[in-house]
Amino acid sequence: MAKRGPTYTCQNCGAVYHRWQGKCDACGTWSSLSEEAQAAPVPGARGSSGKARGRVFALESLKGDTQDAPRIVSRIGELDRVTGGGFVPGSVLLIGGDPGIGKSTLLMQACAALALSGRRVVYVSGEESTGQVRLRAERMGLADAPVDLASETNVEDIIATLGQGTRPALVVIDSIQTMWSGEVESAPGTVTQVRGSAQALIRYAKTSGACLILVGHVTKDGQIAGPRVVEHMVDAVLSFEGEGAHAFRILRGQKNRFGATDEIGVFEMTGKGLSEVGNPSALFLAGRDQAAPGAAVFAGVEGTRPVLVEIQALVAPTSLGTPRRAVVGWENSRLAMVLAVLETHGGLRLGQHDVYLNVAGGLRVNEPAADLAVAAALVSSLTGAILPPESVYFGEIALSGAIRPVSVAAARLREASKLGFEAALMPSGGADAGDGGGLNLKRFGHVTELVADIAARAPRRDVK
Ligand code: TYD
Ligand code: MG
Repeated sequence: MAKRGPTYTCQNCGAVYHRWQGKCDACGTWSSLSEEAQAAPVPGARGSSGKARGRVFALESLKGDTQDAPRIVSRIGELDRVTGGGFVPGSVLLIGGDPGIGKSTLLMQACAALALSGRRVVYVSGEESTGQVRLRAERMGLADAPVDLASETNVEDIIATLGQGTRPALVVIDSIQTMWSGEVESAPGTVTQVRGSAQALIRYAKTSGACLILVGHVTKDGQIAGPRVVEHMVDAVLSFEGEGAHAFRILRGQKNRFGATDEIGVFEMTGKGLSEVGNPSALFLAGRDQAAPGAAVFAGVEGTRPVLVEIQALVAPTSLGTPRRAVVGWENSRLAMVLAVLETHGGLRLGQHDVYLNVAGGLRVNEPAADLAVAAALVSSLTGAILPPESVYFGEIALSGAIRPVSVAAARLREASKLGFEAALMPSGGADAGDGGGLNLKRFGHVTELVADIAARAPRRDVK
């Protein structure tokens, strides 16, 4: 083993140094190193002396009868969808999200639902007193649910307590950053402590077969605070997102060993906890101003579910030397690319214009398929041409200006048709459009065709 003595651990990424330095070489964060005693060897893992002989175990073949993981269904449909059909016994889930977004609320609702179905559920809060947790449950009308409650932060105590009585089906630890283990010589909240506590709790889940949910705090840039290593140790990472100003929240799967990732669950925060949103497209399109230029409806897909959202663009002459580009809900670099393609191949002049782009309703779109809708919104705003309100857009734009086909076109079209849209503007290639959902399909092969189509509707001609 390396020499003993203090080590310096980056509180952002977990990199370890033997000397203090101002900047972490691994992740580039400044002033993130803090002194920590070296982690004790994992208790129970023999061999730290190098002498102990390993135990011989039997190897198995790949073929064998393993049943599908049984599931504990919470009956909160949007939550079960993201977990891949319910919680898996013995698995560990990490839920991250901004403070106040509703993590504790969601988990209390899940706990109450499972407890009411007759399973033993334990909710351990390291942040709030049992009184506070009880108040929240009362507010949601769940005070009668037989959830076992505790306000504790010591991991050994928690594991000892969980060993008493019947094995719980679900254990919630809110939050992992507040936990500390007596076997780790570091202050609570440090990376080493978080990692040590998580390891002990995960070992408990794997050996007992209880499903464990860890709540994790999120840093300003949206990473789960503390060690990224916790993300590697767990079976699934879910993030709970939402814009402060909007009432709805999105639970998104980022990693899931037992289900599809990129699946989303949509909730609305009400006075009585979170309620499920069964038809997110209707929610995202509510309050749409159809008579204004600069708005295009994007037919997107989140996980397995088609979701329609409005993309809004504002292109206005700039008063600054360097025009401003601001994006909410989409990638900055992707906008820069679409702008460059529109300038080079579409003949637009955007160098003297500020560009603002917004995905209405607070959803974060990650799909390149949104390119076409973004381009349409930008051209519409620049030219003042109002896009046909009953149309949806989807398609990826290549650097050459070609519009490329995207996956699951049929599902996108079906959703658009279900919500009363009449036309879809989409790539010319690609075969899986199905019957087109009864929509009038207008296909484009290159951005020049899109620009010409929109410019033809313009009241004045800015496009040269
Ligand atoms: P909470 O679950 O405590 O957030 P987190 O655990 O992610 O930090 O949610 C807190 C917010 O939710 C708080 O601002 C109040 C609001 N809220 C409601 O609007 N309705 C409710 O029924 C509950 C319980 C909370
Ligand atoms: Mg909380």
